[in-house]
Amino acid sequence: MIGLCREAGRDPDEVFTGAGYAPEPLSAEERAAGDRGDAEDLPGWLLPLWRQSLGSEAAAVAEAMGRRAPVWLRVNPLRGTAGDALSLLAGDGIEAEAWPDLTDALRVTAGERRINGNRAYLEGLVELQDLSPQLACAALPLQEGDRVLDYCAGGGGKALALAGRQPGLRLFAHDAEPARMADLPARAERAGTHIEQVSQPKGVFDLVVADVPCSGSGTWRRTPDAKWRLTGDMLEELLRTQGEILDKAAGYVASAGCLAYMTCSLLAPENDDAIDAFLARNTRFAQIARHRWTPLTASDGFFMALLKCN
Ligand SMILES: C[S@@+](CC[C@H](N)C(=O)[O-])C[C@H]1O[C@@H](n2cnc3c(N)ncnc32)[C@H](O)[C@@H]1O
Repeated sequence: MIGLCREAGRDPDEVFTGAGYAPEPLSAEERAAGDRGDAEDLPGWLLPLWRQSLGSEAAAVAEAMGRRAPVWLRVNPLRGTAGDALSLLAGDGIEAEAWPDLTDALRVTAGERRINGNRAYLEGLVELQDLSPQLACAALPLQEGDRVLDYCAGGGGKALALAGRQPGLRLFAHDAEPARMADLPARAERAGTHIEQVSQPKGVFDLVVADVPCSGSGTWRRTPDAKWRLTGDMLEELLRTQGEILDKAAGYVASAGCLAYMTCSLLAPENDDAIDAFLARNTRFAQIARHRWTPLTASDGFFMALLKCN
């Protein structure tokens, strides 16, 4: 609302007066938080970092963050094919099209509000998941029988995507806040798989996925308020947590196994810088791949680095 006032050429203090039904007067912190930086519609303090992180794409990506995000579905091969999903969806007037580079990713073009009542969703044939995490999971090396640890599992979106990609995985889910995994057993059952929840992972794993807590800057078109809530202190705290998680997760990777680091952020300190620093202090690991997706290629902003343990 502060930003809207400024955009309309009004001084927010004329609106935030506390008089009658008007909102309370602004604190100094609120006034600073609403300081919009330039045409990118981003907080002023963040603008240099955004530009440094995105280079020549900075303005275009910021502009794309102001548009409505498409809805994406992931087809679960354990339950059927993309063709099966498309015909079940069509039964409820839901239109979707497969993404050419990943045919199990369906972009919904009409009827998205009916998805959670549709049979394809209720029977675990499709899950809601943005394109970029689907592309990231599709890029991970998997073999039948692999032990896979989803170290920051939350609702289990990544573990479920991996279960669908390679049958016969032994999947384990961990989260510092186990309550976040409460829905995972039901989701796994719906998807036709099993994911074991662990409070303390035991042994080592062929693949460890660290989908770390982050600023969420890649998904700001879905949560536009989040960019105004983020502060420099919060970002610093996130960077510390991300480094700690990387080091912890690395300890669970088997020799010749892989560590996949993921964020839904576009900010370099959370992505490239975090991985560069990790590789500098962990000579056991070498980089295999690094990808960044932005809304300029249809998906949310997302980052993935795949590292191999010697
Ligand atoms: C981005 S979310 C994970 C989303 C999830 N992978 C998905 O696809 O639905 C990050 C998760 O990391 C967890 N987390 C935060 N700090 C952690 C830590 N130190 N160790 C492990 N998990 C942590 C949070 O509780 C949160 O559930």
